[in-house]
Amino acid sequence: MSDFVRIVEVGPRDGLQNEKQPVSTADKIALIDRLSATGLRSIEATSFVSPRWVPQLADAADVYAGIHRRPGVAYPVLVPNEQGYARALAAGVQEVAVFTAASETFNRTNTNAGIDESLARFEPILRRAADDGVRVRGYVSTVLGCPYQGEVPVSEVVRVARALHGMGCYEISLGDTIGVGTPRKARAMLEAVAADVPMQALAVHFHDTYGQAVANIASCVEAGVRVVDSAVSGAGGCPYAKGASGNVASEDAVYLLHGMGLQTGVELELLAEIGRWLSALFGRPTGSRVGKAMAAT
Ligand code: HMG
Ligand code: MG
Repeated sequence: MSDFVRIVEVGPRDGLQNEKQPVSTADKIALIDRLSATGLRSIEATSFVSPRWVPQLADAADVYAGIHRRPGVAYPVLVPNEQGYARALAAGVQEVAVFTAASETFNRTNTNAGIDESLARFEPILRRAADDGVRVRGYVSTVLGCPYQGEVPVSEVVRVARALHGMGCYEISLGDTIGVGTPRKARAMLEAVAADVPMQALAVHFHDTYGQAVANIASCVEAGVRVVDSAVSGAGGCPYAKGASGNVASEDAVYLLHGMGLQTGVELELLAEIGRWLSALFGRPTGSRVGKAMAAT
């Protein structure tokens, strides 16, 4: 098993989408450019969703045009439909991420479509992406619980992950959107999906609402997953998931993984500085325990 874990930094997208206070385009670009210098290999840059639904990211094309794309770093963006895909393509994007859920009610709240309807929306995107040479990542949300339906059957997570992989998504990120999961449950869910989709094509995406995200990552990494989503300073949350809070902080994920003897290629000091800079922008302390500890020593 490889000892390299790829961190997918989702701060510029998941981290900012839930912020009420507007963030300037220049600050978004600065955030991404600073993250590009830390050794990260994947930085989710923004989201080409409807600006009515997520006003904070209405400047997606300007952000994408303004960043310095470092060779060797992927800058995926979220797209919900063909309209978003067309906007992303026009902006010069080389990787997109489509998103659906394992819970019908959440998916309707988030995208105004049922699960199967959203999967059907993705088919033409994947066909076009294959022709355009664009890579597509797929997200499954609410894999460990739904804010509206409660328990989510693992069989639904498996079904949706298999469908996304089957239609050509190179990687499936399993999202605990509201951060309710615990390590054994998270691992059991991951292993159930891995029985149908190769572990190398899976990623985990934990929100930290109940403080379990680091423990969940440790448990899933022990089970073999090698891609972890996180957001610098622990920013984030889905505006359409009641009660959702920040992502696991990238600083905390990197500290954990290095402590487990794994490599990420990420310079923790630089990441922690960016986390403090971003939190200062919002006028609050960093949400990263590691970031706080490093500032105090
Ligand atoms: P809808 O209202 O059903 O869409 O929303 P529509 O097709 O009827 O269009 C309505 C209007 O939006 C039209 O404009 C369209 O042109 C426009 P109007 O004619 O009224 O002026 N529109 C767009 N504009 C720009 N770009 C587009 C686009 N699409 C439509 N792509 C829709 C359906 C999917 C668009 C909407 O529900 C949406 O954008 N939802 C996104 C919500 C979102 O971004 N949620 C957060 C991301 S998911 C997440 O955070 C979870 C994750 O982190 C994993 C985890 O934690 O679990 C990934
Ligand atoms: Mg998320």
